[in-house]
Amino acid sequence: MTQALINGRSTRLPDDPEALLVDVLRDDLRLTGTKLVCGAGVCGACTVLVDGAPVVSCLLPAKAVAGKTVTTVEGVGAGKLHPVQRAFMALDALQCGFCTPGFIVEAAAFHDAWRAARGAATPAREEIAAALSGHLCRCGAYDNILRAVADACAGRYDGDAERSARIEGRAKVTGDALYTVDLRHEGQLEALILRSPHARARVVALDLEPARGAAGVAAAVSLIDDDPMLTFVGQPIAAVAATDRKSALGALAAIKVDYEILPSVVGPEAARKPGAPILFPRGKGQKYNASEGAGAPASWSGNVRGPVSAFSHKKKSARRSIDRARAGGDPLLFEGAFRTGIQQHTCLEPHAAVARFDGDALTVHISTQAVSDLRTKIAKRFKLDPAKVQVIAEHIGGGFGSKATLADETIVAVKLAQAARRPVRVAFDRQEELSVAGYRPATEVRIALLPGRDGALKALSIVAHSDAGVAANSTVAGLARLIYPAEAKELVDYDVVSDLPPGAPFRGPGGPPMAFALEQAIDETALRLKVDPVQLRKRWDPNPNRQRLYDWAAGLDTWRKRLSPEAQSGRYRRGVGVAAGYWLYLWQLGTKVALAIENGRLVASVATQDIGTGTRSVIADRIAREFELEPHEVEVRIGDSSLPEGPGSGGSRVTASIVPPLMIAAGRLKAGIAEKTGRKPAPGSNAPWRELIAASPDFKVEAEREEDDSRTIYGNNSLLKDAGMIGWIFGFMMRRSLHVAIGAGAPSSVQVLEVEVDTWLGHARVIRAHSGIAVGKLAAPVLARSQAAGAIIQGLGYALYEGREVDARTGDVLTVSLDDYRMPGIADIPPIDLHFDEGGFDHVLGGSVGIGEVATVPTSAAIANAIHNAIGVRPCEIPIRPDRLLGLLERGSAA
Ligand code: FES
Repeated sequence: MTQALINGRSTRLPDDPEALLVDVLRDDLRLTGTKLVCGAGVCGACTVLVDGAPVVSCLLPAKAVAGKTVTTVEGVGAGKLHPVQRAFMALDALQCGFCTPGFIVEAAAFHDAWRAARGAATPAREEIAAALSGHLCRCGAYDNILRAVADACAGRYDGDAERSARIEGRAKVTGDALYTVDLRHEGQLEALILRSPHARARVVALDLEPARGAAGVAAAVSLIDDDPMLTFVGQPIAAVAATDRKSALGALAAIKVDYEILPSVVGPEAARKPGAPILFPRGKGQKYNASEGAGAPASWSGNVRGPVSAFSHKKKSARRSIDRARAGGDPLLFEGAFRTGIQQHTCLEPHAAVARFDGDALTVHISTQAVSDLRTKIAKRFKLDPAKVQVIAEHIGGGFGSKATLADETIVAVKLAQAARRPVRVAFDRQEELSVAGYRPATEVRIALLPGRDGALKALSIVAHSDAGVAANSTVAGLARLIYPAEAKELVDYDVVSDLPPGAPFRGPGGPPMAFALEQAIDETALRLKVDPVQLRKRWDPNPNRQRLYDWAAGLDTWRKRLSPEAQSGRYRRGVGVAAGYWLYLWQLGTKVALAIENGRLVASVATQDIGTGTRSVIADRIAREFELEPHEVEVRIGDSSLPEGPGSGGSRVTASIVPPLMIAAGRLKAGIAEKTGRKPAPGSNAPWRELIAASPDFKVEAEREEDDSRTIYGNNSLLKDAGMIGWIFGFMMRRSLHVAIGAGAPSSVQVLEVEVDTWLGHARVIRAHSGIAVGKLAAPVLARSQAAGAIIQGLGYALYEGREVDARTGDVLTVSLDDYRMPGIADIPPIDLHFDEGGFDHVLGGSVGIGEVATVPTSAAIANAIHNAIGVRPCEIPIRPDRLLGLLERGSAA
């Protein structure tokens, strides 16, 4: 018999020589703080200590720890919080929290070794980054992690005091926070999906009986009942539920499928070739949507769909002015072509769902961004009474836009739970996550920009072709409505479809690729006009929020002291770039909140969710301020569709949707307390509401989100006013299809980034980031900083590192592990300075709008402009890989 001492308890290890330590910890011992993410020893989420040394448990056979001590995150600190855990909580060194246990275990080991050797000296940023370089955080909490570890090592968290920037901080640093993938119901089955091995084929026969007869299998279902066409590698065909993963794998192998293999088209170049097979004749059979909105009408030409009418905007005078300027050789006309690559969401918690029927009542735990919406959609899809469907998402390990819809993981879990009459879990593996779980579409953007003789912006043309595989409805060019009013604009969006997995909305959908082209065109024009790029933006962009941010940017030392490319020589060159970001102020119609007093405690409830953005803390902070309490004195209930209807976490809409009704409800609750207790807060009391809440009988009030003012009606607001009828229709569609209103005012950002380029090896790295953001008053300031810093890190990955590769012959995605798909790590990130301008949204009750999207829109463009400032050559394709940068340098020196 083999034993190990796991968190101080003698534990018998399984005899199975193939059992991995991560599975034994999670499945047998229910130590679910240890997370399984990459399964390849790359991301560090499964790190545990073996005899005090950090190791990744996803690669370690369980029997290798026989006779040794194992410490998981649950055992760190031996019964009390470790200084590193207290520092992570206080400095908000986490967001979704899925990577946090792995970081905590590694950082605690580093801390203990450091303190033993160096006392309370503060380690350098580089030393900490080197120690934690085996860990990935997709939310981008790195900057705060570096500060937390430094401060813990310096002894600043040695005492017992506990303070958490976010409500659920303690649960996340101790491994107590339960995510969908951590759930285990009695009798729960494990499900796997059989996926298409062909880019285009028709299923002519599917036999599930051999799978149904396999050992341990409880159910097998077809996923192609109504449509046997397969249009990408990885498309679901069937699914099985079995007692464990091994049995499910055996059952998948037993399924018999006959395919009629058809000619496929892989990638946009192949799709546009003359004579290419037409995949969806006039759109017939095309069903995937790459956007957050309903599919807008558009015409088709072969495999090209568009112009998409929802946001496109075509003034013939723009084209005429540009053609005339080109014919006349106008030196101020800028014309360029830009390409952006695919960015995978790469949430560390995979897409997952656990479905369970109790009689005719269905409970589904889902790693989702939309508990309210999914309840409605599940009920509709499965013809169930909505009152008998409950969607729960207690903690969610990231979403970034990819978990907002009713998708395969949920459909499969519910179907199999129906068939097996037992609880079923579906959790994607990393290969599925990096191939079929969505991505930011690639784009080709052609831009022409013409200043007038009076120095104004005369004409702007942007024509974008998006590559979202089999999905359509991308909007890239159309987003240029939101900035730089011109005499005439031509903004046209096309989709190019091919037999590749569907893209999905990703944080600021369409914004980063559009900014990558437009913000570089603005910069290039400033150089031709010989004006400061910040000042040209200030001249051409009248938005008051950005006007204040341009003044802030212009005053930065980094900006004022930048050098020109000609002033530099040698291997390393430095450059500074600026870019602006823009988004819509959105809020969800019908959002309701409840505030209650229960047993002398204040309880706030709304059916929204926290994907790492800090929704719980936004609610607690806001209510605590209203009642002069501490945030931890407010109990927050979210993540459950049975609560009052709340917003989805998409389009930066949660804060703007929930803060106003929370404030209205707070007013009603105060009136109710005064009425029921017969008392009002005594003047001069330190905590007047605390006493009255404790004395009040239980009662509840509700409030619903109201319009801010008449300008939120459809497109009649400052952002869309140049859009005329199309803008009105767009606003109307958003209300009808998404239940989302567009408010007045523009969430804005301006970033100034400094890069260093190694001209020998072609590496570019960001060495300092300044981000100015105007999203009104910060609902939860510490968490807003975390989100803004994370947004820059995701933009940095998009610009420099991240890229998907496919096999052009077969349609297979090749970058299916975190070894191959390069995300930014802790050593890649610069110090980040954040500047918040809190004006501009006084017309919103509470003064706050969302930050998530706008904070990431300008980053890739600012990096590209900085690289141009360093080397004098403009990167027109991202990711700006070393080979591309060296190519640019060669072409630059040849010129
Ligand atoms: Fe690190 Fe979300 S907090 S992955």
